[in-house]
Amino acid sequence: MNFDDVINRVGTDSTKWDQMERGFGVSPENGIAMWIADMDFAAPEFLQNAARGLIEKANYGYFSGLESFHDSVAWWMETRHGWTIQADWTFITFGLGHGIATALQALTNEGDCIATFTPVYHEFQSKIEKAGRVNTQLPLKVDETGKYRMDFEAYDALMTGNEKVMLISSPHNPAGRVWTQDELTALADFCMRHDLYLVSDEIHHDLVFPGHKHLTAAIAAPEILDRLVVTTAASKTFNIAGARTGCVIIPDEKLRQKFAAFFNRFDISANLLGTELTKAAYSPEGAAWVDALNIYLHDNYHLFKGVLDQIPGVSLMPMESTYLSWANFEETGLSMEEVNNRVYKTAEIVATPGKGLGNGGATYLRFNLGTRRSLVAEAAERLSNAFSDLK
Ligand SMILES: Cc1ncc(COP(=O)(O)O)c(C=O)c1O
Repeated sequence: MNFDDVINRVGTDSTKWDQMERGFGVSPENGIAMWIADMDFAAPEFLQNAARGLIEKANYGYFSGLESFHDSVAWWMETRHGWTIQADWTFITFGLGHGIATALQALTNEGDCIATFTPVYHEFQSKIEKAGRVNTQLPLKVDETGKYRMDFEAYDALMTGNEKVMLISSPHNPAGRVWTQDELTALADFCMRHDLYLVSDEIHHDLVFPGHKHLTAAIAAPEILDRLVVTTAASKTFNIAGARTGCVIIPDEKLRQKFAAFFNRFDISANLLGTELTKAAYSPEGAAWVDALNIYLHDNYHLFKGVLDQIPGVSLMPMESTYLSWANFEETGLSMEEVNNRVYKTAEIVATPGKGLGNGGATYLRFNLGTRRSLVAEAAERLSNAFSDLK
């Protein structure tokens, strides 16, 4: 596992690299793609072997044997997250975006509100809107250490009474917070007080930096198991989002039936490539690879933060997980138009604009650090140069 290896994704139909010019006017020839959330590392050998195994089988018809998929997911949850699950708790979805959208629609009716802590992964908002639901945005507040915190005292007053679901990103995309036991207990209390289901999107659960521990809501908040839907996947951790496979895990039988009544209308069945890759990922080799990856990403973060924090007025939020870093340009005194000009045009870096991530995001850009160290260093240097006139 050498994360420093260069793999060229340009011209491979990779969205991140091959759509950056169309989306942001930055050519991949000189530009650096740091937007969409996938990583630039080659798939590890054990995943390539699983893909090769499929090719060699030369047989891609209908398939059975999903028991081994469920066993792998259960093994991973038990050994990595200390959560014992049963096979019939898990619904296999067509990518996790589909799982989240399905959960939101299964648990609410058109016109209902769904609460989110903002800024948050932009697709939460679009999934809510596309489903004809309304997003009640509950802004996170930045504490004295520069990290996001939930602000429950303020939230009670922002609730309209029409909310049916609380949708969270845990760990948090875009800022890499790992929610603590106390925060999750307070969240469970909030869900009970406002009679909400909790959809806990834990897709980033494995990408946690040394010294931090992700707590699945299923363990941290057993008092709301009857309201809880956990969504997760191997796609972020192992960079296999193209295989479009996710898991919606529902411990409570009644809630499972409610979800199933909606999910089953669409007759979606599992995908051969996605289930094979997930099985290969959720293995001892996969565990060793993720442990090494987390150390590498953590070092990428320190390198990037070290340089960005030297730019007057720019602050990178302290990260505890993920490869998505969240930089605030507010104190530079520049307009966001000017910031964008410098980042996209001068530095030729494509980041994700924070304004699409909801209330509180407008002065931020999200930089994807899931790439080789030398490219992170190059991006940091370009940014430093692009803002070198600031005092
Ligand atoms: C928090 C979060 N949830 C869900 C997804 C979507 O996952 P998928 O690509 O499997 O649809 C992403 C992708 O970036 C994400 O960051």
